[in-house]
Amino acid sequence: MKVAEQCLSDKEEVSLMNFEEIRKADDELIMSTYGRFPVCITEGKGATAVDIDNKKYIDFGSGIGVNSLGYCDDGYVEAVCAQVKKLQHTSNLYYTQPQLEAAKKLIELSSMKKVLFCNSGAEANECAIKIARKYSFDKYKNDRNKIVTLQNSFHGRTVTTLAATGQDSFHNYFFPFTEGFAFAPANDLEKTMEVIDNKTCAVMIELVQGEGGVMPLDKEYVQKLVEYCSSFDILVVVDEVQTGVGRTGTFFGFQQFDIKPDIVTSAKGLGGGLPIGACIVSDKCSDVLAPGTHGTTFGANPVVCAGANYVLSQFKDTNLLSGICEKGKYIRSRLEIMPGVVETRGLGMMVGAVLENNDAKSVANKALENGLLVLTAKTVLRLLPPLNISMQELSDGLDILENTLKEIFQ
Ligand SMILES: Cc1ncc(COP(=O)(O)O)c(C=O)c1O
Repeated sequence: MKVAEQCLSDKEEVSLMNFEEIRKADDELIMSTYGRFPVCITEGKGATAVDIDNKKYIDFGSGIGVNSLGYCDDGYVEAVCAQVKKLQHTSNLYYTQPQLEAAKKLIELSSMKKVLFCNSGAEANECAIKIARKYSFDKYKNDRNKIVTLQNSFHGRTVTTLAATGQDSFHNYFFPFTEGFAFAPANDLEKTMEVIDNKTCAVMIELVQGEGGVMPLDKEYVQKLVEYCSSFDILVVVDEVQTGVGRTGTFFGFQQFDIKPDIVTSAKGLGGGLPIGACIVSDKCSDVLAPGTHGTTFGANPVVCAGANYVLSQFKDTNLLSGICEKGKYIRSRLEIMPGVVETRGLGMMVGAVLENNDAKSVANKALENGLLVLTAKTVLRLLPPLNISMQELSDGLDILENTLKEIFQ
């Protein structure tokens, strides 16, 4: 009998298994697409996660930027539970109020025009790509459908968003990929303009390349690029899946680049832990999609929207945003004097630390042993703590990181 079957039949319930049994069963039952850390998280509160052996960890990863208000924030739990008791799902064939409320808040916070809700970052980007191509098709009726993205970008894992991702390592196995993407070097305006041509309908950028190693774009490059695109009616899509919802210190990152994108995509932190994506458009693109051109069964699910509404309410009714800039500065000031750190970069509470030995993975493993969860992006250490983390938890987590780096570099 296989380990998983044996464990499950012996114990009857997965919740009674120990960590080693869980790991073996997971190997047998779940397709292996992740290099998991050797820990099973069972619960959490604030910025603290608890594992199956009751060990506590300060979490500087937030489930990869998703738990924007940390684990099980009281108000968030209350809002989600109230909604699930009332209406857990209907379909997009009917009107529902939670999605309308979420749209209203998103539009107020972004000064955009209309929203389409979906379930993930990749889906939000797929929608943006469809809107960009249809906008051009409707207006120019020719093969003006090329989309320029940046080298080292990351836009998702669907076949089309992989094609949009500007990293060769993602362009394997799944041929044929969607056609019509070209890649330009970030922060090099001249070379970017060489890639843009009269077949280009849109340019899609991340303002800080998260998965690419926390690489911020230069403000001047972004502004000039947007200006250039606007003069040729080329749409500017800003992928704010990782940078959005307060992460960089403004509600959306584009708000500190002083630009007005045509399309903005959001996901991750928007639902505070529930799966929601949003494609948000300016006036220009607000009527591109019509009935039958796009849709999703789960998109704008009322429970997920109740979570998003609670997250969004925190930006309107509290001083969450100003705290993000302050905490981001504090994180970097502490990191900069830690052993082994040669450079810090990022925006707000999206922070990358370049290490002397470029071995962020070993630091993440050692930090885990020491009670701290951190992320990596390529060879860089990546910190995305919950936006509302207390100064105490933040400072305790940074103490653990400092001790971890001392163990490795001193
Ligand atoms: C900038 C960016 N775009 C898109 C995605 C894909 O989002 P999802 O995993 O929700 O599909 C990610 C995920 O890391 C991301 O960082």
